[in-house]
Parts: sequence; C-alpha cells; structure tokens
Amino acid sequence: MNNPYKSVPVRSYEITPKETYLSRRDFIKAAGVVAGSAALAACAPQVEEVTSTAPVHNFPSMSDELGNPANTFEEITSYNNYYEFSTNKEAVLPLSKGFTTSPWTVEVTGMVNKPKTYGFEDLLSLFTQEERIYRLRCVEAWSMVIPWNGFPLASLLKAVEPTSDAKYVRFETVYRPEEMKGQGSPFYPWPYQEGLHIREAMNELTLLATGIYGETMLPQNGAPIRLVVPWKYGFKSIKSIVKIELTDQRPDTLWNTVASNEYGFLANVNPNVDHPRWSQASERRIGELSRRETLMFNGYGEQVADLYDGIDLSLNY
Ligand code: MTE
Repeated sequence: MNNPYKSVPVRSYEITPKETYLSRRDFIKAAGVVAGSAALAACAPQVEEVTSTAPVHNFPSMSDELGNPANTFEEITSYNNYYEFSTNKEAVLPLSKGFTTSPWTVEVTGMVNKPKTYGFEDLLSLFTQEERIYRLRCVEAWSMVIPWNGFPLASLLKAVEPTSDAKYVRFETVYRPEEMKGQGSPFYPWPYQEGLHIREAMNELTLLATGIYGETMLPQNGAPIRLVVPWKYGFKSIKSIVKIELTDQRPDTLWNTVASNEYGFLANVNPNVDHPRWSQASERRIGELSRRETLMFNGYGEQVADLYDGIDLSLNY
C-alpha cells in the first residue's frame, strides 16, 4: 500500500456535550442482579449465566444518529470480549472485578517531537471530554450501540507532534499476568497490540474512551482508557492502553499475528467481505431477536470512505 489515505473533512455525527447529557440523565443505582438475557445466550450458547451484584442503572433512552437505541448499561458491561480475563464473554465481568486501574500512565512515544508519559488524570484534565454514541460491530457478527465518554485520539497526537516520518500508530494493552489470568495462555502473543494508519488515527471519529453512560469505565470494557474505532471491527478497539507509539512500520497486531487470513490489519466493517467462518452480511444487535443488515463502514462511510480511495476494499487486509 502506497500512502493510500488522504485527509477527510469531518461531517456531522451525534455528539452531545457532556454537560447537556449529564444534566438530562437520571440514573438510579441500587443493589441488584444482572443475568445473561436470552439474546446474549443465543450469541454464546456455550456460556452459562453469571450473576453479579453490579448496580442496576436506569438511564434515559438515547439513540445514535440513525435512530438506533443505545444498549443498556447492563448489556454493555456484562457481555464482553476481553481475552486477558477470559474467552467467555459473560465471565469477563466477574473475573475483571477489582482489576487495578489506578495509578495508570499512558506513554506516548516513538516518532514524535514531544514524547510524554501522561498520568490518567492528566488525560482527563488536559483534553476536552465528550460523549459519542457509536455502533460497535464485532467480527463475530454481533453489535451494540454504546454511549462513550472520552476524547479524540487526534487531540493527544497533536499534543505530542508526530514527525513527518510517522505513518502508523501502535497501541499496547497493559501486561499484568498476575491480575489477568488469560495472559498466561500460550496461544496468544501478549500483550495485546493494535495499530492504525496515522490518517485513520487522526480521523475525528477515532476516540480514546474513558467512560460509558457518563460513568467511569469499568474493567470489563477496558478501564481506565481504551480505543474506539467505530467503522472497524471491534478487535481494533484495544482496551486498557499503556503505550501509544508513532512509527514508520506497520505494527504487528495480536489477531493478525494469530490468524492473518481471518483478521486483517485494515479490518473495516464490510458486509461484502466474509470472514472465513462468519458471514459479515448481517449482524445480531444485542437485545434484539431478528438480525439486521450490516452497513458498509458500520454506517460511517460519510466520515471515512475517502480514506480508502484507490484501495481494493474486497481485500480487507
Ligand atoms: N482489547 C484487549 N486488550 N483484549 C481483548 O480481548 N477484544 C476486542 C476489543 N478490544 C479485546 C480488546 C474485541 S474482539 C471486541 S469486539 C471489543 O474489544 C469488545 O469491547 P466491549 O467488551 O467493550 O464490548
């Protein structure tokens, strides 16, 4: 690929200023029980129900810019992919409870003029926090609509000033096998790594998320800080980031290293390119019974399609 990306104008998508959102939300916390719903069980039939004492939240209904209602706080925080804790989606919540997220630092390094290690609290105070309601589409053909809190990755990158040689951004999850038992598995090259082309990283949609529904991010969702790239399959949205490196080399990624024929580097949501084991034409929205058609670029084509001009999208690698 020869520098295929070009800059894109940012178009409208739903952003509610945090203050507005926080003032109209009305949530109730109470002791309660969260159990896997029938829809979740259908997505992962091998998984047994797991109960927890997580607080029950009752947030006001919200929807994305296409009118899709947001998934509930309970759905978003009880059905998770986080292999560092478990390959069982409903076991991630109990196994990640108590995971140490403070103190936390994120090192931003590599081809930048101003490398810096940020404390998590600095990231919250230095960069304006926003709310973005995004669709998350997993390559396993399930999806959710999630109200994230966070800030654009572009804001952080601008602060460290990438050099003109920097072409890619590499992300790394914390490596802490004593707390993350899944990192003991020899089947995966830990720590989890992901990468973006720098123009994808600078796109206004690309978010560093620090919360959900205005609540501090919970461990199962990638606390305290994770990436969200809504037009790509969910595995690109790496959790619990401790390092961000600007480089001129395309980074290795965990899933691409494990099975390059199944998980590409590009990994744009594309209903026309099937995964070897799953059709990508449709998806199950968690909480819904019937499947819905998958949208090209997960519905964000207006904001990102220009990035891929001249690229053969049938090769999603
Ligand atoms: N990041 C790390 N470090 N480890 C993981 O196992 N799973 C990915 C992504 N980020 C994963 C990760 C996958 S496959 C998906 S679909 C999303 O996280 C799921 O995010 P969620 O659990 O918040 O819905």
